[in-house]
Amino acid sequence: MLPALLLSASVLALGVSAQSTCAPSHSASTGFRLVLNVTDLSLDLTPSVHGKYLSTAHIGPAQNRAIVSPDSNLSPIFYQNGTFQDQLQFRAGILADTGSGLIEALQYLPLPEEDHPTQGHNRIFVSIGTPGAGTALTRLWTPVSYLTILDGVVGSSFVVCNATIPYYGSQRVFQVVNWVAATRDSTGTHVKIPTGCAPVRLVPQCAFLPVVEGVGHEFVQEVRCYDDVGGVEW
Ligand SMILES: *[C@@H]1O[C@H](CO)[C@@H](O)[C@H](O)[C@H]1NC(C)=O
Ligand SMILES: *[C@@H]1O[C@H](CO)[C@@H](O)[C@H](O)[C@H]1NC(C)=O
Ligand SMILES: *[C@@H]1O[C@H](CO)[C@@H](O)[C@H](O)[C@H]1NC(C)=O
Repeated sequence: MLPALLLSASVLALGVSAQSTCAPSHSASTGFRLVLNVTDLSLDLTPSVHGKYLSTAHIGPAQNRAIVSPDSNLSPIFYQNGTFQDQLQFRAGILADTGSGLIEALQYLPLPEEDHPTQGHNRIFVSIGTPGAGTALTRLWTPVSYLTILDGVVGSSFVVCNATIPYYGSQRVFQVVNWVAATRDSTGTHVKIPTGCAPVRLVPQCAFLPVVEGVGHEFVQEVRCYDDVGGVEW
C-alpha cells in the first residue's frame, strides 16, 4: 500500500485534482506480463482482444512479432532495465529473457508504406537487439501504469490489427500489436487509429521474474503493476 500512499501525496502536492487519487491500487514487481486494455471498446476486434496478453510469433532466430494470445503462459515475462537516470531520459529498455541466456527487447520498426496507408504506423517486435528508444512504463507520478513510447514528446497509441505475417504466408491472419505515432496536419496533431484496428494500452500484470543463469538482473527496476489487470476497476 505504501507506494499508493506516496503517489497520492505527490499528486496532491502537485495540485492535481483529487480525482486522480481514485487511481486503481497497484502492486510492485520486477517481472510483468503485458495485458491489452482496449480504450475504445466499440473498436474491439473479433474475437475480442480486451484483457488478452501480448504474445509473440516466431519469425526467425530470436526474432518475434508481437501478437495477441488469450493464454498468459504464451506471454513473455518482461522487465524494465536501466538506471534511474536511464528511466528519466527514456533510455530504459523493456526486456525479456529467453531462458537460454539470450535477452530480447521490445522494439519497433516502421510498417512499409505500401502495406498500410496510415503514417507513423509501426510494427512491434520482441527480438535480440537494441531496445526501442523511449519505451517505458509511465512515470510514478502518473495515476495509472501502462507502457508508453516517447511519453510526453508526441501522442501515440498501441493498436491491434488483423494482419498476415510474411513468415506464415498469406492465409493465416494474426491479431498483431502495432504502434501508431501522432501525425501533424493543418488542424493539429492527431493519433489516427487505422480503420479496422483497436486502440489499446499495454498494462503490466505482476509476474514472478525467474533468475536465469548468465543473465544479470542488477539494473532491473521495480515497477508498478496490477495483480489482475482484467479485474481492475478503472
Ligand atoms: C481500460 O479500458 C477501459 C474500457 O475501455 C477504460 O475505461 C479504461 O480507462 C482503460 N484503462 C486504461 C489504463 O487505459
Ligand atoms: C541494462 O541497463 C544497464 C544500465 O544502463 C546497461 O548497461 C545494460 O546494457 C542494459 N542491458 C541491456 C540488455 O540492454
Ligand atoms: C479480423 O479477423 C477475424 C477472423 O480471424 C474476423 O472475424 C474479423 O471480422 C476481422 N476483423 C476485421 C476488422 O477485419
